[in-house]
This record gives sequence, C-alpha cells and structure tokens, in this order.
Amino acid sequence: MADPAIQTHGLVKRFGDLTAVDGLDLTVPAGTMYGFLGPNGAGKTTTLKMLTGLLRPTAGRATVAGFDVAAQPLEVKRRIGVVPESLGLYDRLTGHEYLELVGRLHGLDAATVQDRRARLLDRLELAEKAGTLTVDYSGGMKKKLALAGALLPDPQVLFLDEPFEGVDAVSARTVKDMLRTLVDRRGVTVFFSTHIMELVEKLCDTVAIIDHGRLIASGSLADLRRMATADAAASLEDVFLTLVDAAPRTAADLDWLAGA
Ligand SMILES: Nc1ncnc2c1ncn2[C@@H]1O[C@H](COP(=O)(O)OP(=O)(O)OP(=O)(O)O)[C@@H](O)[C@H]1O
Ligand SMILES: [Mg+2]
Repeated sequence: MADPAIQTHGLVKRFGDLTAVDGLDLTVPAGTMYGFLGPNGAGKTTTLKMLTGLLRPTAGRATVAGFDVAAQPLEVKRRIGVVPESLGLYDRLTGHEYLELVGRLHGLDAATVQDRRARLLDRLELAEKAGTLTVDYSGGMKKKLALAGALLPDPQVLFLDEPFEGVDAVSARTVKDMLRTLVDRRGVTVFFSTHIMELVEKLCDTVAIIDHGRLIASGSLADLRRMATADAAASLEDVFLTLVDAAPRTAADLDWLAGA
C-alpha cells in the first residue's frame, strides 16, 4: 500500500504548563477527504501548524507526503497547500500580486501562474477585486484568496483550517466541488478543520475528533455513529456531542435572555 499522506506518532505540543496536543497518532491515507473536528481549544490549529512546519513539536514525529516534517521541511512545503487560521496575506499586495508571489515561490513559470491565477480568481468570484489591496478585502474574500493561493501550485496535500468560515453559499459550493474533484480524480489529500457539521457529513470520507489534544474517535461517519449511539440515523452533531461528552447548556438560567 502507498505511504499515508499524513502520519503522526505521539505528537505533542506544550505551551508552558498547557499541553495543547497530547500524544496524537493519526494516519491519513492518500486521496482522503479528512475532517478534523473538536471543540474550541481542542488543539486542531496547533496540530495543523505542526504538520505544516509553522510550529515545532515538543515531542513526537510527523510525516507529510512521505517526508519528515522536522527533518525535511522544504520537501514538505513543496508538496502542500495551506489555508491557516489567521491569514497572513501580505496586506500591501493586491490579490493578483499575492497569487503571483505564491506561484513564483513555488517555481512555476510566468505563463502557468497567469493562466491558473486568472481561472482561480474567476471561479472564486474574485476577478473584480484582483487589483485591490488584500487589506481592503472582506473576511470571506480573504479566505477565498488564501484558498486560491493554496490551490495554485497544484499541491499533493491540502491543509485547510476552517476554510469555509465566512465564505458565501455560492463560493462554498464551488470550493466543495473543487476539493471533491481533486480528491476523486487526482488522489489529493485534504485535511481540514471545521465546526460545520453538515459540511463534514456531506464532504468527508473520514472524520477524526480530538478533545484536550487527544484523539477520541476516528473513522467513517458510520463508524463514529456506531461508537456513539445505537441510533443509525443520528446526525454528526449528535454523535459529536456524545463523543466529546458535552451537553449543550440551555439559556434557561441566563434569566435576562430567557425572559424569566
Ligand atoms: N501560542 C500559544 N501560546 C499558548 N497557548 C496556546 C498558543 N496557541 C494555542 N494555545 C492554546 O492551545 C490550546 C489549543 O489551541 P488551538 O488553537 O490548537 O485550538 P483549536 O482546536 O484550533 O480551537 P478553535 O476551534 O477555537 O480554533 C488552547 O488552549 C489555546 O489557548
Ligand atoms: Mg483553531
């Protein structure tokens, strides 16, 4: 069998006394749409940062596309596309210039950059804003430009931290179609975090749920449902709430909200 696209062994990240990622073992086969879920503060962004070389693990090992993230960071960076949680888009560049920079950094020739850039901007409905500085983009536009930048170099593995946050329904559909096509036709691996359960249900082949930096469940949605409940029709939201053992708090005791 081919190497997994992503593999981690006992991955740990500590910030002082806080253990944000606590011995994570993940295996993501190539050509998988992998949803990475967990409550706020679970350690998703920290994990994504370690896998993309933005943060050094305290302990453990990770490989991406067969290369060791710590020992072979350039080999990894050449093969991945990243949409981070906080977008660093170089405020003083226009969308056009940003994508030009991304293409050149990946060593693409000018004609290829120009062609892919025009098509991505058009498909993501950003063409009209291509000449505007990114500092003046709306939140959703920034997210879409970051996605365009991640897709432009034709990556083998995509790491997307909440890629749909703030993206309108039309563009979200476009992005979903693009990602599904990349996975199905090209065997690209997409590893993404999100809080949108409906999207995960529709899009993902495999789901992992982490909490307090630890993996609490992974598998297909059907596997997770079996772990959580006897109800074969349970939604991912129900499954998630059961597995992270979090009963939603009602507003009843917040008297000014509940009108008591
Ligand atoms: N640079 C840092 N210094 C100290 N603590 C940090 C740092 N980055 C993250 N943390 C802490 O690590 C834990 C995990 O944070 P992380 O950003 O990975 O969570 P997350 O799963 O991405 O959450 P969210 O769904 O809110 O984005 C949190 O308790 C957070 O406060
Ligand atoms: Mg996060």
